Amino acid sequence: MTDALPEKGVPGEQILAELQELRAGDLPTHGGRLFAYVYDPALDGLDALARAAHATSAHVNGLDPTAFPSLLAMENALVGATARLLGGGPATVGSVTGGGTESLILAVKAARDAHPDIRSPRLLVPSTAHAAFAKAAHYLRVEFDVVPVTDLRADPRAMAAAVTPDTVLIAASAPSYAHGVVDPIPEIAAIAAERGVRFHVDACFGGWILPYLRRLGADLPDFDLSVPGVTSISADLHKYAYAPKGVSILLHASEELRRPQYFAHADWPGYTMINPVISSTRSGGPIAAAYATLRSIGDTGYLDLARKTRESVAVLAAAVEATDGVRLYAPTETSVVCLASDGVDLFVLADELAARGWHTQPQMAHADHPPTIHLTVTAAVHATAASFAPDLADAVAAARSRGPIELPPLPPLTPEMITPELIASLAEGLGLGAGDFTRMAAVNTILNAAPPALREALLTGFLSLLQRPVFG
Ligand SMILES: Cc1ncc(COP(=O)(O)O)c(C=O)c1O
Repeated sequence: MTDALPEKGVPGEQILAELQELRAGDLPTHGGRLFAYVYDPALDGLDALARAAHATSAHVNGLDPTAFPSLLAMENALVGATARLLGGGPATVGSVTGGGTESLILAVKAARDAHPDIRSPRLLVPSTAHAAFAKAAHYLRVEFDVVPVTDLRADPRAMAAAVTPDTVLIAASAPSYAHGVVDPIPEIAAIAAERGVRFHVDACFGGWILPYLRRLGADLPDFDLSVPGVTSISADLHKYAYAPKGVSILLHASEELRRPQYFAHADWPGYTMINPVISSTRSGGPIAAAYATLRSIGDTGYLDLARKTRESVAVLAAAVEATDGVRLYAPTETSVVCLASDGVDLFVLADELAARGWHTQPQMAHADHPPTIHLTVTAAVHATAASFAPDLADAVAAARSRGPIELPPLPPLTPEMITPELIASLAEGLGLGAGDFTRMAAVNTILNAAPPALREALLTGFLSLLQRPVFG
């Protein structure tokens, strides 16, 4: 199956069967037992609708909205709906990007390019800000200032103290991915406004659920464009808007703020290239699928999905609290349950949960944070949440009887020592050679013990090992 260019074309039915076979090895995208990567509303017929909408526009090119006004119309509708949800006003403008990381890179680019006078521009974030900000700073050659958090939340006083004359953008999360807590946005916005610095709220993760959680009575701070001082905000439609992958929205409080986000180039013999986002040619498929998803679910539908998510979070959190050996690490104020160990090896526990069909996301120790297990809870979990408690208790008991991972003494490694050969032999020794990633406790234990730079080098090497062409 792995020959992508057979000598003679293969019948469609066969190809689809091959795809199904390949997909069978993936984590389950439905069923309410996967707590990362995928957002599932568990709504009958929605997949089919989104697929059909995607197919309608898959070959439409977002490069030129005058050639394909259908895409412009859908994009404007998506931006309008997001602005309405996130406190936008008549001056609000926005763009449809391919994902959260792209939205954040563009927010940083707009802030950087608004200040050609600043030679060494700086981005200021709390330590819980998403890694995509580090990527933005790296790609755009912007200095990256990271301020420690207090009780998992950005500390406004510490943030204020870290602002410099070269700070072009301050950012914070609503909520943070790792712990699901909302930073004190109004306080940070006031600091940004006072210092005349742009302030981006990263609501990529929670932007589409926080407004509904608040309508359901959740006690959460103001976090959106209605807060004076917030100059931009991002919300991913492929997260809690439950659209298929490939759509995020970046909103700016005014057209003037958005202007430096654009890239324009007329000085070549071809067409004048005007790009609001990073990609130039873009498929209309994800945009049409997102448009169909939003229209199909509607406002009351999203409220109901948020209610299901909220109820599921409460059930999962109660399960954690009732289980000896684990504890809640963060307040469950949004859609995340984050648990830490109270005497059990968390990486063994994650494997034991996976063996019982619950796919969680281990998070490594960082600074003052111990290792944790992250659960992104979506509406689909409503159907399964009640069966989590017995499986968690069972998995904890199994992890206890297996005991913690004991590693053989490893030679001291530094990132410079990581070679493809070393990675290959490590992967083989850890049983990853055959592509079985179901028992990851030993790997996670090694990664957890590695300082971030070494962890980056190890995982980069491993990904590079996986990404090898198949020549057929
Ligand atoms: C808070 C936050 N920001 C940004 C991102 C990056 O989004 P993406 O993976 O769509 O690029 C994520 C992804 O989980 C996120 O949780």
